[in-house]
This record gives sequence, structure tokens and C-alpha cells, in this order.
Amino acid sequence: MLQQDNDILLEMAHDIQDTYGYIPEREITQLAEKFSEPRAKIYGALEFYSMLYTEPTGKYIVRICDSISCFLHDSDEVLEAVQDYLELESGETSDDKLFTLEVVECLGHCGEGPVMMVNDRMYTELTSGRAIEILSECQ
Ligand code: FES
Repeated sequence: MLQQDNDILLEMAHDIQDTYGYIPEREITQLAEKFSEPRAKIYGALEFYSMLYTEPTGKYIVRICDSISCFLHDSDEVLEAVQDYLELESGETSDDKLFTLEVVECLGHCGEGPVMMVNDRMYTELTSGRAIEILSECQ
């Protein structure tokens, strides 16, 4: 697949995700037909990008950084508190489809850890208590 096609694929995938919240199977099939590529190749390309989802996600996608700078600022304690509060492990979505939890690599605010992102909003210098407070306001 040419880089230009890949860029177009990503743009289309983001549009689909904006519509459905994820990229459904039928849309992957249609993308494969449009680009004359096997479904597996389209699926693989989409899976490569952590911000694209091929399964339904929660209304709130909670990303917690556990890279080294955040880890040195006790991100493991924040993560444990969030996991306990949401009763989720990384990659899981709550039964009520309110939250998806993801442990991720650096979110680009390394000097302000621990860092958590809820959908598009970034929270820095978190404590466990503040993280739970933020999540408790998500409805
Ligand atoms: S190490 Fe956590 S934001 Fe960079």
C-alpha cells in the first residue's frame, strides 16, 4: 500500500470512528474493497494505530501512562487506584460501556507525571485521589 493510500485509509478510518465510535467489521470489508487489499491487511494497518479501535469502546477512554518518567512519579499507584475503581484491567471495557482502560506509553507530558488522558483531555501531576475524582465525574 502506498504512503498516500495509507494516509487516505487513516483519514477514512478516523471518519468512520467518529461516526460509530469504532471501526465495525462491515466498514473494514468496505475499506478492503475500496483499496483492493485483503481484509487482513486493512485490519493490520488499523490495529497498528493505538487511537483506532476495531471493537466498541467505552464512552470514556481512560489512558494512563506507565513510561519511565511517570513511573518514577508513582504512576503505578494511580494506575492501581484506577483499576480498582473501574474494576478493569488494561484493554478492558466496562459492561455498561462507560469506560475503556488502557495503559499506554508516553503521553508527551513527561515532566508532569503521573499523566492520565480521558478521551481528549489530559490530566497531569495526578494523585490517586484526584484520578478517582475525575473519573467519578464521568457520566
Ligand atoms: S513518561 Fe508519562 S507522559 Fe511521558
